[in-house]
Amino acid sequence: MSSSFTSKMPNIETSIFTEMSVMANQHQAINLSQGFPEFDTPAFLKDKINQAISEGRNQYSPSNGLPELLTQIADMVHRQYQTHLTDEQKLNGLNNVTITSGATEALWVAIQALVRPNDEVIIFDPAYDSYEPAIELAGGTCRHITLDTPSYAINWSQVEQSINAKTRAIIVNSPHNPTGSILSESDLNTLQGLVEKYDLYVISDEVYEHMTFDGLRHESVLRYPELFQRAFVVSSFGKTFHCTGWKMGYCAAPNELMNEFRKIHQYVTFCSFTPAQIAIAQMLKEQPSHITELANFYQQKRDVLTNALKSSRFTLLPSKGTYFLLLDYSAISELNDREFCQWLTKEAGVAAIPLSPLYPAEQRQEYHKNNKVIRLCFAKNDDTLLKAAEILCQL
Ligand SMILES: Cc1ncc(COP(=O)(O)O)c(C=O)c1O
Repeated sequence: MSSSFTSKMPNIETSIFTEMSVMANQHQAINLSQGFPEFDTPAFLKDKINQAISEGRNQYSPSNGLPELLTQIADMVHRQYQTHLTDEQKLNGLNNVTITSGATEALWVAIQALVRPNDEVIIFDPAYDSYEPAIELAGGTCRHITLDTPSYAINWSQVEQSINAKTRAIIVNSPHNPTGSILSESDLNTLQGLVEKYDLYVISDEVYEHMTFDGLRHESVLRYPELFQRAFVVSSFGKTFHCTGWKMGYCAAPNELMNEFRKIHQYVTFCSFTPAQIAIAQMLKEQPSHITELANFYQQKRDVLTNALKSSRFTLLPSKGTYFLLLDYSAISELNDREFCQWLTKEAGVAAIPLSPLYPAEQRQEYHKNNKVIRLCFAKNDDTLLKAAEILCQL
């Protein structure tokens, strides 16, 4: 029987993160491709989740999230970003935060809440790959703007030129995956000026919020009360607490936007995993130093890798945040970045991520002419980083 089924998403490919991890496993390569920690989640968190499960706290939580976790998030936001938030402006966890099944769900729901058929959303390339499919399924389209290289900064005059009557929202991601660049205070002020001038909204993907290096401050949208009035701010406990497989995240938004968000969230998952919510609430309350020490922890890992690669023929690009480092391999190979990553995995035994799949398909050929850059993930044990660097130094 022949099927008349037509795909709603004929152009969606398997994500490059999945593709490279599968290849890394096949060839037993050191996997510096997909962004997940090699080390375990803190013992405290494991104890608390086990305790919650054995005490029988295994049923649905309120759809928005457990009140004790919502309140702990508001307190944490206040501790981290109080510089611009007064006590009166302190985020109200119960009204303004919703717990989601990973940042992925938060991004998905925020996009469905905002984007209407024929709306345009500005995204910056290279872009994390979950934004565009969500925008398209909502009936919108992406207006792609390429980040300036090699700084991977936003060209704001190009942004302003791209805004038109259909523009609905801008998605920003800082610290930025895959490039490790971060937005500055001046970027946030410019963003605020534009969204106010043109009546737009912002989705701010801040899953690496606690990982900025060399004393640089993370410029969260939550530091800017007026900008926050037009924003969904998304974060991930998976990144913060080394438990990506738990798929726990949250979204913060002002009342009006959060109400819309919650209407959709209740029909996507209803609620997220209750025992993890209990454990994370306790972690935030009793072990706040995990978060304040995270930047230092990852900065040391970045430094282990960058020092070990000093004698290599790669050119290292600055990593100001996240757990990613970009390497320019133009002195080593003529292959395009996808071919180079395949070769690196199969022949050298190190898996990395090519950047070109994170640009629109129609731009990739042109991209390959001028760019030879790959991404390494340094959320790994030091001996893994050193082993990988030893191989990379021989190329
Ligand atoms: C920029 C960015 N946004 C969102 C996510 C998704 O986070 P989660 O695993 O919490 O869904 C990731 C994960 O890699 C990411 O890098």
